[in-house]
Amino acid sequence: MELRGLQKSYATRTGHVHALSAVDLSIRQGEFVAVVGPSGCGKTTMLKILAGLEEPTGGSASLGGHPVRTGSGDVGMVFQKATLLPWKDILANVLLPLSLRRRPTSADRTKAMDLLAMAGLAEFARKRPGELSGGMQQRAAICRALVHDPSLLLMDEPFGALDAMTRDTLNVEVNRIWRETGTTAVLITHSISEAVFLAERVIVMSPRPGRIVEEIIVPFDRERSLDLLGEPEFAALTSRIRSHFEVSHA
Ligand SMILES: Nc1ncnc2c1ncn2[C@@H]1O[C@H](COP(=O)(O)OP(=O)(O)OP(=O)(O)O)[C@@H](O)[C@H]1O
Ligand SMILES: [Mg+2]
Repeated sequence: MELRGLQKSYATRTGHVHALSAVDLSIRQGEFVAVVGPSGCGKTTMLKILAGLEEPTGGSASLGGHPVRTGSGDVGMVFQKATLLPWKDILANVLLPLSLRRRPTSADRTKAMDLLAMAGLAEFARKRPGELSGGMQQRAAICRALVHDPSLLLMDEPFGALDAMTRDTLNVEVNRIWRETGTTAVLITHSISEAVFLAERVIVMSPRPGRIVEEIIVPFDRERSLDLLGEPEFAALTSRIRSHFEVSHA
């Protein structure tokens, strides 16, 4: 994944909004990158460009050497809210990205059930979203994003609405899913500790128009447990990232 001189401005009724300015970023296959930055700095805009849902107004975005196209299908996206269809059961919701294109096969159903088992939801496959807790719905949304084996998993504040304990548990889950599937992952989060816990590299963005102010390599092993949150090295990394926001608001 390559972003080169990426710019985006939106034309609005009251003039142009310059959302992103000159973002350069390369993401390796299989890498886990987290993006943190103040509200309105263009994080969601960047994710939409990576997903092919928005066109850049300058620079380029490419995936495996090809320009990112709308509906390339190789992307799984998890939104801030789980956005499951309330009238379909969990299994049907997870199969949705496939069933929009063709009739799911029994192999597809096996795949969906494997993902649900991995997310601890095997017994809930036949329940409706309303019968699951918020955290369980969000786990199902992650399964849905993974069902078509995307080479890129994009997550926009997926756990923002959840309590801290559920969030910690899901972070451990996401770490395991990422290791087991080998997918490339980009996570937007307002939680600095979530970014450091999950990512191999944390991108810190400036206020709008967003640009990258620092890239921090997170040197921990790929497999992570919540014990990490108490390590001095973990605290050092989070406070280093936090210092950017203190400076930028001064
Ligand atoms: N469709 C749009 N039309 C016009 N302006 C937009 C549009 N989408 C975003 N913007 C503007 O672009 C800027 C960046 O928005 P974006 O949603 O990317 O920010 P963000 O970093 O994701 O913020 P947050 O952390 O609050 O989610 C904002 O000033 C916003 O008003
Ligand atoms: Mg956003």
